[in-house]
Amino acid sequence: MNNLLIKNGLLIHADKQINEDILIRGETIQELGQNLTVSPDTTIIDASGKLIFPGVIDPHTHMGIPIKDGSSADTFATGSRSALHGGVTTILDFTVLGPGQTLCESLETRQKLAAESLCDVGLHINITRFEPEILDEIPLLIKKGYNSFKVFTTYEEAGMMLSYGQIEAVAKIIGENDGILMVHSEDNETIMAASEPFSDRSETHPKYHAYARPAEAEAVAIQTLGEISTRTNCTIYIVHLNTAQGLAVAAEFPLLKVETCPHYLMLTEDVYEQDDGTMFVASPPLRKQNDQDALWQGIQNGQIHTIGSDHCPFCLADKTADIPFQDIPNGMGGVETLFPGLLAQFIKRNIDLSLLTQLSSRNAAKIFDLDAIKGSLSVGAHADLLIIDPKASMQDWELNLDTILDWNAYAGLPAIFPETVIRRGEIVVASGQTQSCSQGELVVSTPS
Ligand code: URP
Ligand code: ZN
Ligand code: ZN
Repeated sequence: MNNLLIKNGLLIHADKQINEDILIRGETIQELGQNLTVSPDTTIIDASGKLIFPGVIDPHTHMGIPIKDGSSADTFATGSRSALHGGVTTILDFTVLGPGQTLCESLETRQKLAAESLCDVGLHINITRFEPEILDEIPLLIKKGYNSFKVFTTYEEAGMMLSYGQIEAVAKIIGENDGILMVHSEDNETIMAASEPFSDRSETHPKYHAYARPAEAEAVAIQTLGEISTRTNCTIYIVHLNTAQGLAVAAEFPLLKVETCPHYLMLTEDVYEQDDGTMFVASPPLRKQNDQDALWQGIQNGQIHTIGSDHCPFCLADKTADIPFQDIPNGMGGVETLFPGLLAQFIKRNIDLSLLTQLSSRNAAKIFDLDAIKGSLSVGAHADLLIIDPKASMQDWELNLDTILDWNAYAGLPAIFPETVIRRGEIVVASGQTQSCSQGELVVSTPS
């Protein structure tokens, strides 16, 4: 069994920051405090001057998801390796409901792929068809620890959309069984109207992607979803919130939880004018500076609860220019740069680092009922943690990424990568380099 003592670090808890040593035995944290007694076989890491954060939980990734002609570029194996390098020790990905499959079958299929992951993995259950048999599976899945389900208010042409009436029926069942409903929130009718001028498919410039999926679509969807959450008493988690209007509406409804993404916090729609503009095509699209400012405000006033990468990367060759903008694969990578980029922003903006712990691990653990084992530096929890040198250079990190991808969205922005990453007691990143390590484990929720 692995015994590790991490000495002299500053622990960045969600509610306080304190100098304490951490004793790890096997996969869990055994003791916290000063002058801990350790056995002779204990490996000691001196973390003087370093910050210790809980391992990051990325609540929103799409490893190797099928798209029209192919799949997103990272598999669970490759994406999870780069996740660990950036300090993400747990990812929460999604099932993919194949034609004719039940929800349980879709879970089994995805679990087999997720078994390749090097970080720990949880799975949200995608509901992209509305059928009585499917609704019947929801209570059973929640009992088994799969308590989060996701639906889409758009992507009608891809056959993934549920109507608001159908979403309300799903929310009712999930609410009655103490689960959580996640929603991709862009109003389909608003998108259809805004897309109409481009229906001859002659435009290739990526900026039209943002014209065709306007900011109003988010606010319209969130208003209806907020009303559904109140009527059904179901917690609804708005994924990838990206607009000032959407945030203002979400703040009106107490049962809504809000996730945003690093791309909305660090980039604006101006990137669509760059030579590599097609690479930034993701749904929802990048927005304006005032939206970004509102999101940072929302982070500081507690209206935003989590930050997920929405990792759905493509390589340069996958997103060729000069095709109708509607055919550009949607999605960007971000799991590896998620925490390093945010940490640099929090330091530059002088925002309390305990808030970063809340947004990058603690809140996701609580929302998805993983907090018995994940998302905190506490006795009995999994020993998932990051050791960070706050004085490390914020530049030149791009030369040291651990990824199969040939493009990253955050080039030129500051980032601080962890020096050491420990996942369930195992050192998986040392001196900033990913080590060969054991497989990740599948995690399920355990309501407290
Ligand atoms: O463009 C994106 N984000 N693709 C992934 C699927 C989704 O809607 O989150
Ligand atoms: Zn989405
Ligand atoms: Zn997504």
